[in-house]
Amino acid sequence: MIRKAVEKAIVNQIKNEEHSSRLYLAMASWCQVKGYPGAAEFLYRQTDEERMHMLKFVHYLNDRGGHSILLELDNPTADYKSLSDLFEKVMKHEEFITSEINKLYEVSLKEKDYTTGSFLQWFINEQIEEETTVHGILDKMKLAGNDAGGLFHIDKELSALAAAKAAAGTAAV
Ligand code: FEO
Repeated sequence: MIRKAVEKAIVNQIKNEEHSSRLYLAMASWCQVKGYPGAAEFLYRQTDEERMHMLKFVHYLNDRGGHSILLELDNPTADYKSLSDLFEKVMKHEEFITSEINKLYEVSLKEKDYTTGSFLQWFINEQIEEETTVHGILDKMKLAGNDAGGLFHIDKELSALAAAKAAAGTAAV
């Protein structure tokens, strides 16, 4: 039977992943209406990935004798100043998720739940990849500045990135 402290921390992470999925859906919708179809494609794909992360936690906790329950969520932000503002918020959010996964890992070690520690390794690696990808996108945006041609190019690249990741069956972010 899983320890209560670990169960509580996993339920909190289920909430975080569900919120991530909704946040990226709101961002994808913004990109679509503002004329960034590539960024929208990239973020629509990411909503599915975050839901997959959530389901991994839901199944894991239930399989370990716990009970995955869903908590109340905050509304995701609907408006952004620019495409780079939006991706800066993606970066901040992913850094937050990394810190939350690290906290969960610390709880599992404190409770001597090494099975959960091992399960979390996949998420720890995933966060490294996600942060690296978003850093790369932000670096390109800084180079493009507010240049419409540069942003058009980045949007095309995001579309290609989403398609490549879809073909490889991996996360967009
Ligand atoms: Fe599920 Fe992007 O972290």
